[in-house]
Amino acid sequence: MLTPEAIRRLRDELIAAGYTLDAVAERLGEQGLAGLARNSSLAATDALDGADDPQADAIRLWLLRQPVPAARTGWLTLDTLAAAGLLVAGDDIRAGVELKPYGSEDAAGWICSDPTPLDGRVGRPRPDFVLGASPASTTLAQLIPRGRVGSALDLGTGCGIQSIHLAAHCDRIVATDLNPRALDLARITLGLNRTGADLRLGSLYGPVPGEGFDLVVSNPPYVISPPGGELVYREGSHPGDGLMREVVSAAPLNQGGNLVVLGNWAITDGQPWQERVSEWIPAGCDALVLQREALDPYEYIELWLADAGLAGTPDYLPAYRRWLDYFAAQRIIGVGLGWVFVRRTGSDRPDLRLEEWPHSVFQPVADAVTAHFEGVGPSRWSDDRLLAATLERSPHLVQEAIGVPGATDPEHIVLRQSTGLGRAVAVDTALGAVVGACDGDLPLGVLVDAVAGLLEVDPGVLAGEIVDRLRPLVADGLLVPVHSNSQDSHRDRFGSPQTLDGEQRREHG
Ligand SMILES: C[S@@+](CC[C@H](N)C(=O)[O-])C[C@H]1O[C@@H](n2cnc3c(N)ncnc32)[C@H](O)[C@@H]1O
Repeated sequence: MLTPEAIRRLRDELIAAGYTLDAVAERLGEQGLAGLARNSSLAATDALDGADDPQADAIRLWLLRQPVPAARTGWLTLDTLAAAGLLVAGDDIRAGVELKPYGSEDAAGWICSDPTPLDGRVGRPRPDFVLGASPASTTLAQLIPRGRVGSALDLGTGCGIQSIHLAAHCDRIVATDLNPRALDLARITLGLNRTGADLRLGSLYGPVPGEGFDLVVSNPPYVISPPGGELVYREGSHPGDGLMREVVSAAPLNQGGNLVVLGNWAITDGQPWQERVSEWIPAGCDALVLQREALDPYEYIELWLADAGLAGTPDYLPAYRRWLDYFAAQRIIGVGLGWVFVRRTGSDRPDLRLEEWPHSVFQPVADAVTAHFEGVGPSRWSDDRLLAATLERSPHLVQEAIGVPGATDPEHIVLRQSTGLGRAVAVDTALGAVVGACDGDLPLGVLVDAVAGLLEVDPGVLAGEIVDRLRPLVADGLLVPVHSNSQDSHRDRFGSPQTLDGEQRREHG
């Protein structure tokens, strides 16, 4: 594999060739990028218009998987890259891996992975295929809280994408994978991005015995499939959703630490999915689990058979039937796709919230999840304590009035979070007035008294009603006690990750 020095030289050559995210995006233009987002290379090829400059050649080689004349490149690292198996040398050179410019506000550089299939190529991936920056990867990156922490574990690092984001806010990163090839490519990604991580080979939490982490993140191989699935990037060796269960239930979290996982769970006959997944949550931990989508077995199996390159082959129908039989034997009647957030609080009264959330969200949602975990405690305060507290409403809460056009009074008033999960709550005049007045100045009880005066109702009765209806807003971080207002602390620290292509895999895992 490449030495650190060779990776440094490769980085210098990529920069010298102008093979960076912004420069490549400018060169390929909107249509070229949109084509790559559809895994189609022709618009990008046309944008290069036959040019033979170093940037065009780098794009052909590392992104479009096209041959480039060796004599033309003049790259100093050619022999080294060929020796490491990253290039196939000859009169024309071809890339053996993909080096894709990648960036967001907290990470900018390249991702080294196995090549994304382009132009409808559906060949079967090699068993140790290393996935690049997939929609699931970039979704996970936006679910991870950006608060500064001491230690992070990137479980199943693959191409290393999560680690290059973690490097912006974690002092120490351990990145593990079961696939040695993944660690080889992650080492290149990390080196190109000048990111340090302790790379360890092994399964699940095996490589970190006895260690605890402030943050554990994973986009694990969550695909639920019959035994014998050989694609290590997507299929674990556990039956059903057993690998997801292990990832969640055995997470080595320090006190206050967070686990963020994206994946799938079985929806089994006779058991609500919430009950099944809540059994995975370790003792002493709060959890928020959002099921973003549920697929029936047929939809699910078709999705993953196509991903494995089986669609249109003679193996398709026999494999399909095998998967169906397996699902039937496991009593799986559907599959939930979603996000699992766990925080170790040490509480003997943990808060477990498992809900279906198929609605649009505003990424990154990490801050909203952090605000939720921080709101759980205050939402359980006694009535008196809440009424004595001073609350501040989220600056991103907006009011929507819904009713017949031209009517003087709306039929419904909804307060909606215009960021994060986009949560909404219907309010009446009294609740709307109280929330509207929560600007961090006066205690809630004073505001309730004032609104009761305006509406000419009994303040004690109104206080009793309002407090119960306010609790969910506090738990969702829409109203924050001013002394523990941390909702803004990480806001807007990073934008959406950008890649130069897209894949058909589900963003929810
Ligand atoms: C879906 S990929 C995710 C890669 C990357 N973290 C991302 O976010 O795109 C899952 C990764 O988990 C690795 N893996 C599979 N089984 C594993 C296991 N039992 N323990 C640790 N890693 C495993 C695979 O090799 C693969 O790199």
